[in-house]
Amino acid sequence: MDLSNLKRLAGERAIAYVKEGMAIGLGSGSTVYYAIQKLAERVRAGLRVRCIPTSRRTEELALSLGLTLTDFSEVAELDLVIDGADEVDPHCNLIKGGGGALLREKIVASAGKRVIIVVDETKLVERLGAFPLPVEVLPFGWEATLRRLERLGCRAVRREEDSQPFLTDNGNYILDCHFGEIADPTRLEREIDLIPGVVESGLFLGLAERIIVGRAGGTVEELVCPSRIWLGREDSNLQPPG
Ligand code: 5RP
Repeated sequence: MDLSNLKRLAGERAIAYVKEGMAIGLGSGSTVYYAIQKLAERVRAGLRVRCIPTSRRTEELALSLGLTLTDFSEVAELDLVIDGADEVDPHCNLIKGGGGALLREKIVASAGKRVIIVVDETKLVERLGAFPLPVEVLPFGWEATLRRLERLGCRAVRREEDSQPFLTDNGNYILDCHFGEIADPTRLEREIDLIPGVVESGLFLGLAERIIVGRAGGTVEELVCPSRIWLGREDSNLQPPG
């Protein structure tokens, strides 16, 4: 099975958790793409939901499929957030931001009662860090911010697209930080957050409730995360309908 099929398996499975009337956060990327397609199928069959997208790209896709969008002026909490990830460790800590949407993704995930992450099995790692950690920074003084990040032990590279600096949907830069194995993600997140000029890092710690994994054999595995207990959200008890 090729990778896109594994992504499809994981993405589509997540839609089993969607119920009538939910407010849903829609992540970004090629795995969530399949979730959105499946969601649209259910909406065409009569399901009513409202969605907050995490990127312009997702917004365009959702609108093109006829999904109803909303925003945080109307919704205080999202019933469910479905998003992808670039790496997932055994504690359900994530690296996100490969697509550059990490800031909106983190705002949306933090507003989610339940966060489901959809990945193909290549995203599962023992330790985070082989994937360079994306950090969104203000363009002003970005070189100084980069140097401060490098003092934390990485090589940081400003992301480019078509030989130009990549700009996020928020008009910021992404610095891809090559740390290698990250021994203590919690500490690193704190240290990065303290650097002036940093808007957000792609470390998503303790946010995911469940990881849905598309496996090479064509099966789907669901990993339940213990980590939301840290956030006092141990009440969540996800059960797919049926
Ligand atoms: C975008 C993200 C994506 O969720 C992440 O890059 C995974 O993408 P894909 O499903 O295409 O592998 O964090 O900012």
